[in-house]
Amino acid sequence: MARIEICLLEDVPANGNRAFVAEGVSILLCRSGAGVFALENMCSHATAALEGGRMKGPFLFCPLHGMRIDVRDGCPSGQLTTRRVRTYPATLEDGRVFVEIG
Ligand code: FES
Repeated sequence: MARIEICLLEDVPANGNRAFVAEGVSILLCRSGAGVFALENMCSHATAALEGGRMKGPFLFCPLHGMRIDVRDGCPSGQLTTRRVRTYPATLEDGRVFVEIG
């Protein structure tokens, strides 16, 4: 598993998200009061990028059908699917965001 520096924390809007490509994977960094979390930038319901989805606390809402996803573990809520969105360990160090990809 490779630990990759993705960006500065300030590159991700507070209570928002932003996608970055690392190791050929589109990673969505989500920033909430609980910290910064990394998910695959693809909804587990259908083929839709999650970037730009509304954030509320630790939850991200898919821009296409509005499914609620817990950014801490990728678990969805509701009836659309029970499949989790893949997550990656994310850490902060000196204001920089690192993600373990592999
Ligand atoms: S594609 Fe995300 S909820 Fe349907």
